[in-house]
Formats: sequence, structure tokens, C-alpha cells
Amino acid sequence: MAGKIKAIRGMRDILPPETGRWQAVEKAAREAFALYGYKELRLPLLERTELFARAIGADTDIVGKEMYTFPDRHGDLLTLRPEATASVLRAVLENGLDQGAGVKKLYTLGPMFRYERPQKGRYRQFHQINCEALGSDAPELDAEVILLLMEILKKVQLGANRLLVNSLGCPECQAKFKAGLGLFLINKEGLCEDCQRRRTTNPLRVLDCKSAHCREILKDAPVLRDYLDPDCLAHFNRVLELLSRFGVTYEEAPRLVRGLDYYTRTAFEVVAVGLGAQDAVAGGGRYNGLAKELGGPDLPAIGFAIGEDRLMEVLPENLGQGDGKKVFLAALGPAALDLAFSLLQTLRQAGVAGEMDFGNRSLKAQMTLADRLGADYTVIIGDRELETGKATLRRMATGDQQEVALSLLPMVLAGL
Ligand code: HAM
Repeated sequence: MAGKIKAIRGMRDILPPETGRWQAVEKAAREAFALYGYKELRLPLLERTELFARAIGADTDIVGKEMYTFPDRHGDLLTLRPEATASVLRAVLENGLDQGAGVKKLYTLGPMFRYERPQKGRYRQFHQINCEALGSDAPELDAEVILLLMEILKKVQLGANRLLVNSLGCPECQAKFKAGLGLFLINKEGLCEDCQRRRTTNPLRVLDCKSAHCREILKDAPVLRDYLDPDCLAHFNRVLELLSRFGVTYEEAPRLVRGLDYYTRTAFEVVAVGLGAQDAVAGGGRYNGLAKELGGPDLPAIGFAIGEDRLMEVLPENLGQGDGKKVFLAALGPAALDLAFSLLQTLRQAGVAGEMDFGNRSLKAQMTLADRLGADYTVIIGDRELETGKATLRRMATGDQQEVALSLLPMVLAGL
């Protein structure tokens, strides 16, 4: 017998009823995006490898170790997107979406791929709700983007969480900081292999190292805040002031650098309490230099991505359930089945969700099925009901029954 084929490690099926919770999160996000003036983009999952290599940075774990990269049949080197920001910018520049006045506000939802070691909350195919605002360097936009993120998280009832905020400064501040950090790291013993290399190639990346020993060494490392020039500092303070004005609780996180190289100025993460090692449910920041890096114009921008898989782990079990009522039609005998089938279509036309069993099974079997499907009401139609022109309407939660004229059923059910 042939063996069963299983899903690839780190990639999973998301099944009902779990998908209902995903829909609830995505609905909440879409509603919030609409309120803030965002429009949706739908982008390819495959891009040229060069796009991510240039955008995310050669020294990052993502580009160095985690990309699904392969040559296609023509020999072009392609990569399954590990994140969406680079693709959004590629699409914006390619389609001229950056043209015209005003901030361009875009969002996109979908799977991302990183070849990481799978564990709780970390998958090789995972899903992001991605938000990007392009065309302004105003600190008000930073605050607005963070407010939007927090609003989405509140709408989906995310419990205890912490918003961590830092400023990575402009490229000039970063260059000075990298020099200072490089000096600090120069004679430190015991850095991991990656960090020994990174301390000269890109010392900022050392700050993002997960190794306990490297973290210990970094305790006394210089912090970015001390290297911010007056403009970057004023920008950062204004963002923080606006967050406070709107009652957003934040923590300054002087060592937060994020795992991608494109960030400038504001960078932030939301960590959920109780998630364990993989506790970041969202992250983002400014990436003012990325458009130029990708051959485009000067296009300051900021955005974030919510990790949906991780978020799901901490959201209420019953999120998105109980929306709308559901009716089950139990038909006994062929004539009742014929009538119930027509009634079912009428109900659906009236906006009432309904189901029935075509198997002509016993009432008991059909009631069990109604329960399993989560029906709020069951309509029972048998010979007696056909004769009297009235059906039995049963409320499943209480077992209460009443007779309702068949002709009035759609109206009665729509009004319940
Ligand atoms: P990121 O921090 O790499 O940022 O990812 C954002 C979120 O995606 C993380 O906070 C986490 O919740 C989720 N995530 C990342 N990797 C995995 C994984 N292997 N399994 C499950 N969830 C994961 C970015 O991707 C940036 N593009 C965000 C951004 C948008 N910055 C500006 N605009």
C-alpha cells in the first residue's frame, strides 16, 4: 500500500473551526484599515531573489539562512517571499503608485516563508497582516501607524501585551553608532561565530543575536539613543509624545533593532505576555531608505506586520463565533425532503444560513447532525406537517418547540 503523503515540516493546515477565528482577525484588520484610509494590494508569493537580498540585507538571518530560494526552469533565481515590505515597494515602484501627493496607504495579507527551526509559534509558512504607509517622514505618521496596529490588536481582544519602541536614527546616526558598537565589540571574547563576523560587517546585527552569551556581553553595549542627532531625537520624542497623548502605553527598548536591515528611525514590536520564546506578535518601523535602495526615488515610509499564527495562540477561543444564526431542516420522507429543499433555498435567499441532510435518515440521526453543525433552530417537516401545512420549529438551546405555518417560516426565521 502506498504511504500517505504528509505536509512539509513547519507548514500546516489551518482547519475549521480555527479558520473562523482567522476570518474574524482579518475582518477586524480590514475594518481598521478602511477607517485609516488603507487599500489592499495582492502580490505574488515569488519574487526575484535579488529583491530580498537587497532590501533585507545580506547579513540578516533571513537572507543568510532562511530563504526558500531556487532557480526556475529558465534558470532565474527566485525566492518565496520571507516578508512583504520588499514586495510592496517593488509593486509600488513598478506600478507608479508612489506618484501624486499624499501618503500612500497599502495593506496586504498572506503567507510568508522562512526556513527556520519550527517550534511553537514559529513556522516555515506563516501568515502576516502587513501595513505600509509611504510618502512622508512626519512623526505623526509613525504615531498613526502604531495607533492603527494597537487598534487592530484591541479589536481582536489581544490580552496583556507590551509595545516596545526604539529609534534607529538616520543612516548618519547609524553609521556613528555602528562605529561605537564595533569598537565596544572589538576585543570581546566568546561571541558566537555569526557575531564574530557581524561585528565588522554589520555590528547592528549583533544586537539582534539570540545567543545567551552574546546577550550577556551586550548588556554594557552602547545604546542607539545616545547617538541620535537632534533631528532624529526630536522625531522620536514627538512620536512618543503622540503615543502618550492617545493613551498608548509603551516601553522604550534601547536595544531593539529588529531582524531586517532596512529600518531607520522608529522601530517597534508588540510582544504578547504568555507566548514563550516566540512572543513578538507584530513588528515594524520606518524604512526611509528602502525605495532608493530598490532603484526608486526618495520615499520615506513606515509599516508593520502582524504575525497571525502567533496572534491566534493568545486570542480568545470563541473569537468570531456566534455570528449569525443557523437553521437545520430535518425532513422525514421524500415529499418532506422535496419541500424542505425548496424551503432551504428560500431561507438562504432571505439571508438565513441553513443546512439539511439529504440522506432521508431517522429524526434522531438528523437531530444529532443539527447539533453537530451548531444549528440554533431546527425545522422538522414530516407527513403530519405536510398535511397540516405547519412545521415544528425547535430552539436547540432550550428544546422549546412551536408550530409555524410553512408559508411563514422564511419570514419568522429571518426575524428571529
Ligand atoms: P518581522 O518582525 O520579521 O517583520 O515579522 C513580523 C511578525 O511576523 C513577527 O513579529 C512575528 O509575529 C511574525 N513572524 C515572523 N517570522 C515568523 C515565523 N517563522 N513563524 C510565525 N510567525 C512569524 C517583518 O516581516 C517586516 N516586513 C514588518 C514590516 C512591515 N516592517 C515595515 N513594514
